[in-house]
Amino acid sequence: MTTAPDLAPAEAPIGVFDSGVGGLSVLREIHRLLPGEDPIYVADSGHAPYGDKPPAFVQARAEHILRQLRRAGCKAVVVACNTVTGLSIQALRAQHPGWPLVAIEPAVKPAAALTRSGVIGVLATRNTVASPGLTRLIAEHAAGVQVLRQACPGWVERVERGELDGPDTEAAVADRVQPLLDAGADVLVLGCTHYPFLLPVIQRIAGPSVAILDPAPAVARELARRLTEAGLLNSRPRGGMVRFWTSGDLTQTGTVIARLWGSDTQPERLVGENTAEP
Ligand code: DGL
Repeated sequence: MTTAPDLAPAEAPIGVFDSGVGGLSVLREIHRLLPGEDPIYVADSGHAPYGDKPPAFVQARAEHILRQLRRAGCKAVVVACNTVTGLSIQALRAQHPGWPLVAIEPAVKPAAALTRSGVIGVLATRNTVASPGLTRLIAEHAAGVQVLRQACPGWVERVERGELDGPDTEAAVADRVQPLLDAGADVLVLGCTHYPFLLPVIQRIAGPSVAILDPAPAVARELARRLTEAGLLNSRPRGGMVRFWTSGDLTQTGTVIARLWGSDTQPERLVGENTAEP
């Protein structure tokens, strides 16, 4: 286990990571709720998408990123990737006992409470759709509701390229959303953190009578609760600084981060690249 540098705990950074730029949809909620905190955001864009990779590879990447965030002295980490949560969260927590790891997961519970038609659709990566984590969520929280699991291959790559709209994106989204609407779904769950960046297109195709749920605000609230409970909230009310690390191409990833984050950013290289592609 790596040792954290000697920082005053409440002033230490918060780690946030994803396979790529998708977790920025979670980071913006964290930054909105806790503007005094200093997040380090890791976009593992050099290895995205996780959704089609072998589960052992995804777990190895998550372990590697957690080691780097631990070395940087992070007081807590947000797993801003449903694929990592679904495949590996128990193993990751077991490796870092006592370190707050807050993890996003598809909003199946609120969707089951909200549906009137009794049919909900979960849009996610192939790995999340097949994950034990999603099976457990459905069994625990969606009894009596029909849950349609829809894998959306190609969506993550689109967001990584910054293709958030246009006829091709519209067609790719309709291809996956329309079958859920035809089957009677009145609630759609965004089960991948890249998908909120496609929300305007998804909403246009689904129409106003379909609710679309993104759990990112709830993740930010859970982080605030955990930090408060542990006495780790930064007392600074605002002015936190966000840093970006990436394993991807610095210029290309920097351009997409700047577009999605809304301000100029200069990502740094994620250190200690040590995991080969499968
Ligand atoms: N954004 C991630 C998720 O929430 C991973 C997507 C991917 O890399 O396939 O699942």
